[in-house]
Amino acid sequence: MNNYSSEGNLQLWSTPILVEKQNLSDEVNKRLKEIAIEAERKASCSGSFYDRRGYYNLFDLDDPVIREFEILMSQKFRQYLYQGVRDARAYDWDVDVRAFANIYEYGQRIRPHYHHACDFVSVYYVDVGDGAKAPFKTNEDGRLVVIDPRGTVQYPFDQKSKRVPTEQGMFVCHPATLWHESETFFANGMRVMISCEYTIVHEHRKAFSRLAKVEHPNPPQIKVDQAPTDTIYTQHYR
Ligand SMILES: [Fe+2]
Repeated sequence: MNNYSSEGNLQLWSTPILVEKQNLSDEVNKRLKEIAIEAERKASCSGSFYDRRGYYNLFDLDDPVIREFEILMSQKFRQYLYQGVRDARAYDWDVDVRAFANIYEYGQRIRPHYHHACDFVSVYYVDVGDGAKAPFKTNEDGRLVVIDPRGTVQYPFDQKSKRVPTEQGMFVCHPATLWHESETFFANGMRVMISCEYTIVHEHRKAFSRLAKVEHPNPPQIKVDQAPTDTIYTQHYR
């Protein structure tokens, strides 16, 4: 759909975002919280959230709650693709996916970022703390903030960022390229999220092959970052 036959004030390049409350049981959310904490406890050995070199996939775990969660994520992601992105093949695609946890406590937040090496990203809110208010005036409440990546076309320019409600059980899905962050979390308890990164295995992607390795030609001494070597219980492509 690259051509428009009509003229007028066309609204181009909208950004579909699905925000929908789920109704997983308290028992399932409790188990997901345990799994998330355990995964982050292990992964944090390889660095803080922003500089670690180890990657894990919760969907590699052999756990009935994880299987239930994976099915829910597939249903919701494909619903988003179908209704939001309006992709007629939403329920046919092979999709590569990785699930991982984000956890923060009082005074913590997720810095602005977008996701690399995937097409879409979702977050599911397993726990959002006890809802207690900070002991000072703030409008920061740990909510998700999504940011228009384009230059603003009108005032007020604070319309560039939108807060998304993030109570327990909320599922949010959007393109990986969309900048997002969280407000600072000031409640008691923990804010526990499970994020998923999705890549559609499109015909375009299936045409790729692995580039031949060649010998390093008597390398000059260039200082490069140490290659990431850690992977934590990750068995890609089951
Ligand atoms: Fe993110």
